[in-house]
Amino acid sequence: MALTLESRLALNTGQTMPVLGLGLWQVRGPDVGPTVQRALELGYRLFDTAKLYGNEREVGEAVRASGLPREELFVTTKLWNDDHGRERAPAAFAESLSRLGLDYVDLYLIHWPASDRRVETWRALTELEDAGRCRSFGVSNFTVSHLEELVDATGIVPAVDQVEQHPFRYEAELDRFCARHGIVVECYSPLARARRLDDPTLAEVARAHGRTVPQVMLRWGLEHGFVVIPKSVHPARLRENASVFDFSLEREERRRLDALSQGSGPD
Ligand SMILES: NC(=O)c1ccc[n+]([C@@H]2O[C@H](COP(=O)([O-])OP(=O)(O)OC[C@H]3O[C@@H](n4cnc5c(N)ncnc54)[C@H](OP(=O)(O)O)[C@@H]3O)[C@@H](O)[C@H]2O)c1
Repeated sequence: MALTLESRLALNTGQTMPVLGLGLWQVRGPDVGPTVQRALELGYRLFDTAKLYGNEREVGEAVRASGLPREELFVTTKLWNDDHGRERAPAAFAESLSRLGLDYVDLYLIHWPASDRRVETWRALTELEDAGRCRSFGVSNFTVSHLEELVDATGIVPAVDQVEQHPFRYEAELDRFCARHGIVVECYSPLARARRLDDPTLAEVARAHGRTVPQVMLRWGLEHGFVVIPKSVHPARLRENASVFDFSLEREERRRLDALSQGSGPD
């Protein structure tokens, strides 16, 4: 079935997640309200924040002010690196929830595997007593070996791995592993932070479809079956980034875009 902005992917927790959302890293407090409101008007339903971003409070306020039924919205936040461990992880989760001012979050991610206590953290989170306060748990920046470590130790498969992915950084091995284990891959920096918008291959594909390079980059992620969370604070770009459901890439074009990662490595 053709993807739309309302499309959702099934998570291994029985929940579903919108295929496109708004990234909120580097969106300053005062900009959050108007940006989220504009995004909601355009049909965005997924909002990605983190303790690190320092804007959970404003994100929660904007979501609460939307007037939309809570179950239509999907809010993600993340555990920061100094909150790993059996004691701190549940406390950090409760603090995030309190800053957001919501009854529950849809997805709580371990932001980085950067701690030798990551398995302990995972176990503590997935054993939270009041499980209703978080609909799904996942991870971010976890490689295949980090994922294997978690699953081997606990038997609990993360619902999502949020990783940097775009045509210049296509993690095919991780993609295959996640597909095999029913883990949804969510692409952060799906526009490669707007640093490669002048790439000639992307420009050629965009021209062939009468589209923009950012739209082609997002379409690439969606057609791989990933969730994409571009960030913008500009209304015209918010609209542009959500207008990616009325064209599709040819197989050959997708193959050419996949090949952009080869040899270039992460930027
Ligand atoms: N888990 C992690 O470790 C991690 C790490 C990084 C990011 N993330 C998440 O992923 C989200 C997205 O990643 P990101 O913010 O790093 O990068 P991104 O979405 O790839 O790119 C954002 C940059 O592109 C610009 N931009 C957006 N739309 C555009 C368009 N249509 N045309 C031209 N420029 C455009 C934005 O500027 P304007 O705002 O000025 O439009 C901003 O400078 C973050 O906000 C965050 O939620 C997670």
